[in-house]
Amino acid sequence: MTNLIVVGMQWGDEGKGKIVDLLCPAFDAVVRYQGGHNAGHTVKFGDRHFALRLIPSGILHAGQPCVMGNGMVVAPDALFEELDQLQAAGVETAGRLFVSNRAQALLPIHADLDQAREKAAGGGKVGTTGRGIGPAYEMKTARYGLRLSELASPRLEERLRAQMVRIEAELTALGGEPLGAPSRLADQCRAWHERLAPYLADTEHLLHGWIDAGKTLLFEGAQGSLLDVDHGTYPFVTSSSPTAGGASTGTGVAPSAIGGVLGIVKAYTTRVGGGPFPGELAGEAGEFLRRRGNEFGTVTGRPRRCGWFDAVAVRYAVRLNGTRALALTKLDVLDTLAEIPVCVAYRHRGEVLSNFPSCLDTLEAVEPVYEVLEGWREDTSGILDFARLPKAARAYIAFLEEQVGSRVALLSTGPRREETIVAPEGPLVDWLGSRLETVLAQRGA
Ligand code: IMP
Repeated sequence: MTNLIVVGMQWGDEGKGKIVDLLCPAFDAVVRYQGGHNAGHTVKFGDRHFALRLIPSGILHAGQPCVMGNGMVVAPDALFEELDQLQAAGVETAGRLFVSNRAQALLPIHADLDQAREKAAGGGKVGTTGRGIGPAYEMKTARYGLRLSELASPRLEERLRAQMVRIEAELTALGGEPLGAPSRLADQCRAWHERLAPYLADTEHLLHGWIDAGKTLLFEGAQGSLLDVDHGTYPFVTSSSPTAGGASTGTGVAPSAIGGVLGIVKAYTTRVGGGPFPGELAGEAGEFLRRRGNEFGTVTGRPRRCGWFDAVAVRYAVRLNGTRALALTKLDVLDTLAEIPVCVAYRHRGEVLSNFPSCLDTLEAVEPVYEVLEGWREDTSGILDFARLPKAARAYIAFLEEQVGSRVALLSTGPRREETIVAPEGPLVDWLGSRLETVLAQRGA
């Protein structure tokens, strides 16, 4: 049984929530390692819907411990909103949710700056979620940030002042209001800390102890590989490391203690926010995918940009993450199409590129090279067995596998847990061993 990372292979919104929810019972704990409340998914549990942005969805599985790692940026009020929602539904969080005391505090002034910057940037904006993610990570890296444990530090006001001076300078230059004295924010921080305190823990020690005791961990990545601050389409990225490497730095669990990476990939491509998107479909085809795939942001409600499957991008993500198995989602969105193009390479100034370019200018200038596959024009939702998929759907999957260099181990053919095909052999079976049974049981098989 292996500790496993679940990573988005595109620009986020690949459907990680459903897959993590499905796999949860096979693991002793679920751990998030980066990002903040820019992430978001709605989990249907029983007949209730829960909007979770910070807390791993494992919290909805009775008794399962959940960890929010040191690599995260945590807005206390956003966390409390989720805790209230869970409490109102009778979900016990005390003694089950462990928040790293090394995680950074995301403060309202970070969101103010994020929004002011986006407003000022006009057409060149990143299209952030406006939650303050960038400024929170900037403060961390610049060493002006506040860890959650420091929200009640005797030096709190002094530390806040150092941050506020910097933020205020930029905010007022952008036309915003001065921030005032740090004492008010300091009072708020102390109140936050009081409520946070029962959840704060040295999560690294906790995780090491669990690993020593033979417990297994599921690491949940947020956003997607192409939004990674190092490897993504910089500067149109988020400010953290969603790729598998981030799971180690973001939790303190060494790479040697993590055995596998499951990549979540949508059967086509979407992106929300600005930045290059080779193969973006502006016309009717894009509208078709958006409508049929219900491609609207869960956090901001923005319509997502859509395109056909981009094998160049996913091939790159497979390498970045060492992905040995894939969960392919939303195949059913393609059910009605007669033909399905797949981008297999990019063309740039007469040259064919099969690797994802690092340079933004190149990415903006490339043209996708498509291979067109036959559609299956049959309803695939609810199918529980690969062999029962239409022949053309199996050919589509095999083509993607060959193109990106990884096998499809899970196939989601609808939003509900029951609508998932599990490969009877391959890496997922090796990783989960007999625990695969719990996944199959969850699926309702
Ligand atoms: P930020 O993370 O709010 O700074 O936004 C930076 C970029 O990442 C923007 O293009 C956002 O649309 C994108 N982004 C952030 N979180 C998500 C997510 O959970 N899904 C998809 N895109 C995201």
